[in-house]
Amino acid sequence: MTKIIIVKKKIKDFNKKIKISGDKSLSIRWVLFASLAKGVSKSRDLLMSDDVFAAITAIRKLGIKVKFNNGFCEIHGQGINGYKYKKNLVINGENSGTLSRLILGLLINTTNPIKLIGDKSLSRRDFKRISDPLSMFGANFKLKNNKNLPLRIFGSQNLKPIKYIEARGSAQCKSSVILAGMRTEGTTYIKAKKSRNHTELLCKYLKLPVKVSNKKNYDLIEVRKINRINPLNYNIPSDLSSSSFFIVLTALAKNSRLLIKNVNINPSRTGIINILTKMGVKISIKNKKKYKGEKKADIFVKSSKNLKPINCPTKLNSGAIDEFLLIFLIAAKANGTSYFKNLSELNQKESPRLKWGSKILRELGIKNITTKSSIKIFGNPNLNISKKITIKNYFKDHRVFMTSVIAALSFGGEWKIHNKDSINTSFPEFINIINELQK
Ligand code: S3P
Repeated sequence: MTKIIIVKKKIKDFNKKIKISGDKSLSIRWVLFASLAKGVSKSRDLLMSDDVFAAITAIRKLGIKVKFNNGFCEIHGQGINGYKYKKNLVINGENSGTLSRLILGLLINTTNPIKLIGDKSLSRRDFKRISDPLSMFGANFKLKNNKNLPLRIFGSQNLKPIKYIEARGSAQCKSSVILAGMRTEGTTYIKAKKSRNHTELLCKYLKLPVKVSNKKNYDLIEVRKINRINPLNYNIPSDLSSSSFFIVLTALAKNSRLLIKNVNINPSRTGIINILTKMGVKISIKNKKKYKGEKKADIFVKSSKNLKPINCPTKLNSGAIDEFLLIFLIAAKANGTSYFKNLSELNQKESPRLKWGSKILRELGIKNITTKSSIKIFGNPNLNISKKITIKNYFKDHRVFMTSVIAALSFGGEWKIHNKDSINTSFPEFINIINELQK
């Protein structure tokens, strides 16, 4: 049975300090790197969400032991060549593009074919973008419709390094090729459009032979074969993408304040902070610290009276790629017309998100002109609604669900939002935190 949430009231003003659960990108990467390390790695504050559990189930299937103990997760890595490639292995990526794409990079040396499956949302996503570069190393693939899941990967013991141009700004593609390069004799060269760089920073922290030269519009990455990864203990900082729901909720409220503690603020992820600041949202970053090559800080945000429209510079897109649905809500209340372009990648996410952004805005009565890659939003600073709205059939995209809840709490109306369970993908604590704000 689908679980439905009904929201009928706007949120009351609040002044709170909250903690958000662990970063999803870092949690999945930690699981994969720890599974390759020689020895036991421990993490604290690992995100306990379905995407991360899918990663844990996947490495368990490859013969790696994982234990949970007193709030810690322990992974007993068996070294770089420690995966056991049994016959007829099936790995289920469930809803997670990050897990499914990254792990394929590690499976290119499998001695038995492996089947990769996923849920309905993942099965409509593009895997040719991964099988193309990984085939150049020498692995072979069979994909449904030449593009989708289920796919079969046939590994090779005779891998050759590649030269790869990553032109979409996809951290998943870039990371998958880095991981494959780490299994391959010789040097793999990657020219990558800017995207989140957690994989590169982890490699640097672990002193792996991955060299990065940052250019203005792209990065050059050289990867050589690795022989050993040392165990890695990691306290996962909070997820800025999950925090963003509450940053926007606060910004749209009448007179509220919020402090979010210990959030990862890797500059390749802070697009939302840059964009919202340009739109007049009052955000300050406090207590900045470095942690194992990453940056973290507390984020303070206040309700904002005069929201300004933006002609969003495309160079800010990649750093905000998971936050656009929320940014559109700010544009909905801005005093003028906002324009966002070069966003075709949004329709490649867990649901066609540009279309869903447009649909939510239409439900709110906000005029928008949307193409395959852009959206123009005609804001209304007095936005306040009272109609009934139903949100369903959106491929259970967690970010569509949570954005709809934020819209309901911010603009009013009576909302019936289906598939509440979708929050388990990335942010199971989402509803609990909303309730905490109202105590
Ligand atoms: C992610 C990369 C992004 C992002 C996703 C997480 C990652 O996807 O949308 O939620 O952890 O590498 P793409 O690489 O497909 O842009």
